[in-house]
Amino acid sequence: MKPILVTAALPYANGPVHIGHLAGCYIPADVFVRYMRLKGEDVKFICGSDEHGVPITIKAKAEGITPQQVVDKYHKMMGDSFAEFGISFDIYSRTSNKKHHETASGFFKQLYDTGKFTEQVTEQYYDEEAKQFLADRYIEGTCPKCGNEKAYGDQCENCGSSLSPSDLINPRSKLSGSKPVMRETKHWFLPLNDYAPWLREYILVGHKNDWKPNVYGQCKSWLDAGDGLQPRAMTRDLDWGVPVPIPGAEGKVLYVWFDAPIGYISATRELLPDKWEHYWKNPDSRLIHFIGKDNIVFHCIIFPAILKAHGGYVVPENVPANEFLNLEGDKISTSRNWAVWLHEYLNDFPGKQDVLRYTLIATAPETKDNDFTWRDFQARNNSELVAILGNFVNRTLVLTGNYYGGKVPAKGNYTEAENTLINFITDTKKQIGESIERYRLRESLSLLMDIARAGNKYLADLEPWKLIKTDADRTATVLHAALQVSGALSLLMEPFLPHTGKKLRDMLGIDNHQWDDHHIGNLLAEGHQLNAAALLFDKIEDPAIEAQIEKLAATKAATVATQAAEAATTENKSEPAKPETTFEEFMKMDIRIGTILEAERVPKTDKLLKLLVSTGDEKRTIVSGIAAHYAPENIIGQQVTLLANLAPRKIKGIESKGMILMAEDETGKLVFVMPSESLRDGSGVK
Ligand code: MF3
Ligand code: ZN
Repeated sequence: MKPILVTAALPYANGPVHIGHLAGCYIPADVFVRYMRLKGEDVKFICGSDEHGVPITIKAKAEGITPQQVVDKYHKMMGDSFAEFGISFDIYSRTSNKKHHETASGFFKQLYDTGKFTEQVTEQYYDEEAKQFLADRYIEGTCPKCGNEKAYGDQCENCGSSLSPSDLINPRSKLSGSKPVMRETKHWFLPLNDYAPWLREYILVGHKNDWKPNVYGQCKSWLDAGDGLQPRAMTRDLDWGVPVPIPGAEGKVLYVWFDAPIGYISATRELLPDKWEHYWKNPDSRLIHFIGKDNIVFHCIIFPAILKAHGGYVVPENVPANEFLNLEGDKISTSRNWAVWLHEYLNDFPGKQDVLRYTLIATAPETKDNDFTWRDFQARNNSELVAILGNFVNRTLVLTGNYYGGKVPAKGNYTEAENTLINFITDTKKQIGESIERYRLRESLSLLMDIARAGNKYLADLEPWKLIKTDADRTATVLHAALQVSGALSLLMEPFLPHTGKKLRDMLGIDNHQWDDHHIGNLLAEGHQLNAAALLFDKIEDPAIEAQIEKLAATKAATVATQAAEAATTENKSEPAKPETTFEEFMKMDIRIGTILEAERVPKTDKLLKLLVSTGDEKRTIVSGIAAHYAPENIIGQQVTLLANLAPRKIKGIESKGMILMAEDETGKLVFVMPSESLRDGSGVK
């Protein structure tokens, strides 16, 4: 039997868990693992909190506490949420613990000692006030592509460009607000380019057919990129993380994307101190990483290269990454509070973990981004879980209670109808397994529901509630068969709906279930006493759903209000808007380019300059109120934009023919409005 090691991305311990996390990787991984366990496979499920990196330090700053306090708080909260939703990790560890520091540090040391890194001195932004180098996220400035003044050192969230800190115009440190300076710093790089041929073979050849198209496609575009893979720094200048374990690296820590995936190894060591190598260093072992799409490059390219550089480890067999889940048509966003938080869900829908699991599997963003809506959630509960699955099981158990005192009635003689039903279960079970093994969980869940549908149809066709009046033996057979379907469901639903599966097995009085051991259509023996029946699901009424929708509407209103307030503060400094005008009105203006040929003060005024301006075929005198802003000798030769057909006016006895266009800032300062390139005088402006 091949060992299987399943990991789910270590979530950053900087906030609670929301539905996007669950749908992205924790539920898919959990379904897969629960299925493998039922099959009796040698499987371990590894996860933990990712407690290093800049996001944690930013959160600490925002909350005014230490990074350790941040991770302590959220590690607990996240672990609790996962447990409540039945995510059945064999271990939920954390990267701030000692075992992990040792493991990651040892790993780095081995690569260093065997010459796998290159050292490079590069220039990086340094904050002289805060006395530290600035991570990309700590630098803010103007995006060179779209002019957004709040672009980050690594990305502009307005236009989506990925940036490097030196691209930013007017960079500012987010720590002190000061202007950062470039300073030299030494780092250790993994030359990813050296691993490119191996990576191409491993992924593009080796996994062409078994990796999901979205994953394979992203890898391919990285590997095919024109400038190829670049050496990547595995260390950072930061005071939070695993210290770089070599001389001359004081004040530096391991890059979080170096240390976090090694967290999978550390957690396995913690779980199985004597047996962890059985999963990590065994050529037969199947390593499977469940992640969200933003983690693909790290798990498919960088981590495998790290493992390869070290040697002796298996590399991932598959990385079934999901796309993103949106919420009511909008991207889930922690900062805008646009999310369904698990701890809040549990408050509002106590005991309904499986309803959320069901909805998130049924709408999992397996091949493309998908949308979670509360109406869909309600419909899935009411018309699928209640009306199909719950209804079938309930009818079967209630009738058995009424007619047979809750004892499994005699099988009697199965007819065509029963044989067809039981064969259908056997076939469908096989397909469910195959779908799960191919990471098609939506498909597998809908197959499960097909069994409940078949059960409902069987009851509707056979009508045991009528049959009881005429044919006692036949009724017993029908309920016997229906009970076998319920038994099968209680087992087959376990990977998806573990709480409900347990509840149903308790009602049926069976356990010690295995995917393959029993005959799936024969889990309940004649005469077996069942326990009291209870509803598996109940209806979710409109008010509960409306409350959630209103809550989101309030969130949205709050966001809009904040944005409006922000806009208003900038607007106050701007000109008040003028009433609408027409194109025709605008076209009456003769606006053109000119050059200042001469300039002198108008005597006895302190505001006015008398200018001689060339407009190509003529020279005209214009009096302009800019003396407080420009000295006459400094503006000779200046190109300007002027309104040429303004009616001539006499100002201080001088006839002024036209008006120079000036822009005014909120302090009243005037500057010339001029073409971005020098133009022929007389050029028109439209
Ligand atoms: N913390 C990362 C995130 O939330 C995921 C880390 S996965 C690991 O995006 F491999 F690095 F552990
Ligand atoms: Zn931009």
